Amino acid sequence: MKKTPIQLMLNGVKRQVEIEPNDVLVDVLREKLGVKSPKIGCDRGDCGTCTVFLNGRTVRSCLVLAIEADGAEIVTLEGISKHGPTKLQKSFVAHSSFQCGFCAPGMVLSATELLQKNPKPNRGEIQEAIAGNLCRCTGYAPIIEAIEDATKK
Ligand code: FES
Ligand code: FES
Repeated sequence: MKKTPIQLMLNGVKRQVEIEPNDVLVDVLREKLGVKSPKIGCDRGDCGTCTVFLNGRTVRSCLVLAIEADGAEIVTLEGISKHGPTKLQKSFVAHSSFQCGFCAPGMVLSATELLQKNPKPNRGEIQEAIAGNLCRCTGYAPIIEAIEDATKK
């Protein structure tokens, strides 16, 4: 299949990569650009493990064609913690919020987006913000508590 070059700003660095027309963003990030934090869970938009920021808004990168990211700014977990863990990430650690950690990158990005838009969310708003990020291990309580705590300090 014919390959097409695309350019994107990935975690603050300009990158170029050749893609095929049906490549999805999560595969290109992981396999061609070496960014491993977006995980492939359901591969159909249900679980949120592949969440990344695309031009400042979170998207499920398993549902985005890589060609749609041509010229875009992409930020993954690696990008938001490039200068060390954020206050929110430290709060997740303090609350032992994750067990296997598979959901963590997507959860951190969804919570980060929430706090960017709404620095003092109530519990319902937190639940709503992470509703699209499935966690099979924790029952969500330590995740929600960590986000609440991060808004207080
Ligand atoms: Fe993309 Fe599940 S892998 S939403
Ligand atoms: Fe295992 Fe969330 S910590 S899926």
